[in-house]
Formats: sequence, structure tokens, C-alpha cells
Amino acid sequence: MARLRLDHVSKRYGDFHAVRDVTLDVADGEFVVLLGPSGCGKTTTLRMIAGFITPTAGGVHLADREVTGLPPWKRNAGMVFQSYALFPHLSVAQNVAFGLEMRRLAKADITTRVAEALKLVRLDHLAGRLPRQLSGGQQQRVALARALAIRPDVLLLDEPLSNLDAKLRQEVRVEIRELQRQLGLTTVMVTHDQEEALTMADRLVVMNEGSVRQIGGQRDLYERPADRFVAGFVGRGMFLTGRVEAPGRFRTEGGLALACDGGASGPAVLALRPERLEIGPAPLSGLDNSLPGTVEFISYLGAASDVHVRLSPSDRVIVQVANRGGDAAPEIGATVHVGWPATAGRLFAPGGDPPSL
Ligand SMILES: Nc1ncnc2c1ncn2[C@@H]1O[C@H](COP(=O)(O)OP(=O)(O)OP(=O)(O)O)[C@@H](O)[C@H]1O
Ligand SMILES: [Mg+2]
Repeated sequence: MARLRLDHVSKRYGDFHAVRDVTLDVADGEFVVLLGPSGCGKTTTLRMIAGFITPTAGGVHLADREVTGLPPWKRNAGMVFQSYALFPHLSVAQNVAFGLEMRRLAKADITTRVAEALKLVRLDHLAGRLPRQLSGGQQQRVALARALAIRPDVLLLDEPLSNLDAKLRQEVRVEIRELQRQLGLTTVMVTHDQEEALTMADRLVVMNEGSVRQIGGQRDLYERPADRFVAGFVGRGMFLTGRVEAPGRFRTEGGLALACDGGASGPAVLALRPERLEIGPAPLSGLDNSLPGTVEFISYLGAASDVHVRLSPSDRVIVQVANRGGDAAPEIGATVHVGWPATAGRLFAPGGDPPSL
């Protein structure tokens, strides 16, 4: 049984669709991540679940109850906002108590629950401080405690880690995930950071321009992206434009003849991933494609290098070369050969993105 259900939910501002016909079921205890570029409707979706925004169409169901028109304090969703939104004049403990007071719990219960929530996020020793007397990471944990204190049916996290430095972000990621597992919390988190999404989610929802483009596990999205947008947003994608001349035969606009995996004749885009390409000083045998090119640029990234290779005046690819010690990566200006099996490429309709209204 779904703990949270969005049923054809839309939000319009005038004739602008901030969120368009989103349908999503989140199972009990599941950790779902909404992933998409800035402005795609992630926060709007989360706020409709929490009750801060009323949908223009569709329904929100929480723990088997329709809550679409109910205000936030009459539904049991705990939200951590993009900016934390702590009350600056209230202490840590008062901030955490806020949602409980809104729900008119007895004073003794509030005290117990505040202590319990602060203990969960390991801030019990700072209950009397004001937000400005806390570090960014501690403020983030107060916001989390405030959401947990109401014992929510669903925990909503809006880019909860965006104000933290890279190292702290990695630690807090693990902390949130462990706490979520330990409490069995049904969680929806928003991020535009694909690495964060891939490491934390049970399931991902990729959004663009207000619409859901694909829902699935990490492997589904990466190996079987539904469209060009998803292919470019989850993992890294390179796109060669051209046409399928016959099933299995692709010709780029730059004139390269390539082997592809099936495909219907007509204009198309061939998507490749840098880590699926091979590179060598001589033609690569045993691969469906092997093409000569010139190295134009190299980015050294530590664990790997990105080698940018010009294959034709209008076709350039990036090959990711793992760092195995020694000098495996070629030099700028070198002639190299780049190869890949036909099955490493995916074909999409040209343009890929639906027209925006
Ligand atoms: N009150 C409003 N009136 C008009 N347009 C709005 C309103 N609130 C949001 N929008 C628009 O709706 C779209 C979605 O906004 P939303 O805040 O959901 O984006 P987001 O995916 O959370 O982006 P970000 O990653 O930048 O936080 C944006 O184009 C935004 O400008
Ligand atoms: Mg947002």
C-alpha cells in the first residue's frame, strides 16, 4: 500500500505550468528522490505534498487519506525547507516544538518529543541555543529534528544539504539515510545534484519543465534512459546528430559511418557515454566501431582523465580513461583510435525534449 500518492497533480500560475500531471506512488519506508534542473517544479511538488501549495488539479493522498485541500498542520508531513527556515528568535528546542504546538499537543508530550527528536540528530546538548549560534550543519539538523518531532507519515527534504560544504554533505548524507532506515521513514527528497540522488535514493523521479520524464532505479535510468533529457541528466551523455540510414547503420552530420543498435530509418541522435568508449594508438579490433581522431583537450581528474577527441569537423567525443598508474592517457595533438560496441550507443529522436508551452 502506498504511503504517499500523487494522482495527476498539476500546479498552474496563470497559464504557466509549474507542475504538470505528476503521478507517483511512494511505498512505506521508501526513499524517493526528485531530481531535475533548477525551476523544473521540485519544490512546488514537495510543497503540494506538505500542504503549503494547493494543486490546481489532481489529488494528494497520505497514509490512505485524501489531504489535497488540508492545511499543513492538519496533515502529517514533516518538511525540511531549502533554506531551513528556522525561526531566528526561537531557541533550538522552541524551533523543534513549533509543529507540535501548531498541532496542539499537551505540554508534557511536547517536551518529551522535542528531547527525543534532538537526541536523534545528536543536538540535545544545544537545546537552548539560538539558530545564529549554530553552524550550518547544526542548523540543518535542527530543521530535520523539527520535521521528525511530529512523527511524520512522510518526511520531505528540499535540498537539505545544499548549504553544507562538500565534506560535511557526504557525512550528513549517510546520517540522514541511516536515520531514515532506522525509523523506517517514508521520505521524498529533492535535489538537482545527480550524485546525491544516485547515492541516496531507492528510486528516482527525473523531472524537467514541470513534468516527470522517468521514474526508476539508478540502473534503469542510467542504462535505459527514456529520452535524451534523462540520458544527459543522469550520468554523462554525448550526443551525435545524424540519421539512421538502415537498421544498424548511423551516419553523423559530419559524415561518419557508425554501427548502431537497430533503429528506424530517419533523423536521430546517437547518445554515448565517456566511460563506454575505448581509446588506443591503433585501430581497435573486436569492436563494431573504431575511428581515427585527434586529441584536442585533456582534463586530468585524478581517478580518471577525460580525453576529448575530434572525429570529424562536427563530431567530437569524450573518452574517459581510468588512471591505472603510468602514462595511459595520450597527449594533445596525438592521433588516436576510438572504439565502442554498437550496443554502447542509444538512439533517440532528434530534439528529444517536448516543446515547452
Ligand atoms: N508563486 C509563483 N508564481 C509564479 N511562478 C512560480 C511561483 N512559484 C514558483 N514558480 C515557478 O514555477 C517553476 C518551478 O519552481 P520550483 O520552485 O518548484 O522549482 P525547483 O525545481 O524547486 O527549482 P530549484 O532547483 O531552483 O529550487 C519555476 O519556473 C518558478 O519560477
Ligand atoms: Mg527548489
